Amino acid sequence: MTAEQERSLALAALQARANAYAPYSRWTVGAALLTAEGDVIPGCNVENAAYGPTNCAERTALFAAVAQGKRRFAVLAVAGGPEGETPAAFCPPCGVCRQALAEFCGPEFPVLFVKGEGEVQRHTLGELLPFSFSLTGQEGGESHAHV
Ligand code: THU
Repeated sequence: MTAEQERSLALAALQARANAYAPYSRWTVGAALLTAEGDVIPGCNVENAAYGPTNCAERTALFAAVAQGKRRFAVLAVAGGPEGETPAAFCPPCGVCRQALAEFCGPEFPVLFVKGEGEVQRHTLGELLPFSFSLTGQEGGESHAHV
């Protein structure tokens, strides 16, 4: 992916924070998932009074994409921090989201941590979740793509 594409996905993740519903933690997270076809699917965290039903931004984006029939992904960008503030630090995906991503994405899948006005740190899913659980022993249960 070009530096320009990376920047635009980083900005999409920052932008997606605007729709976060986080009245309990006041911690807003945005994600932007680039599909193999080139679509950008946004996601935000959606909290719940019972706490447990809360959904993270990354899984919101992933599940929205799957609901649209998209299962091949190129890159994920994520940004989060205190509501109303530019994130001063990176917000790495939680363990549950890492495992959810591993259902569709292989170990080389790039995950971009975003902070500030679009500062990016590049990681891979394999680095974030080594030895992910699978019933087949293969990583990345669905076919995946890279740009
Ligand atoms: N959160 C995410 O959206 N993504 C993560 O990877 C970590 C945490 C959300 C869940 C909750 O709404 C808030 O951040 C504080 O935990």
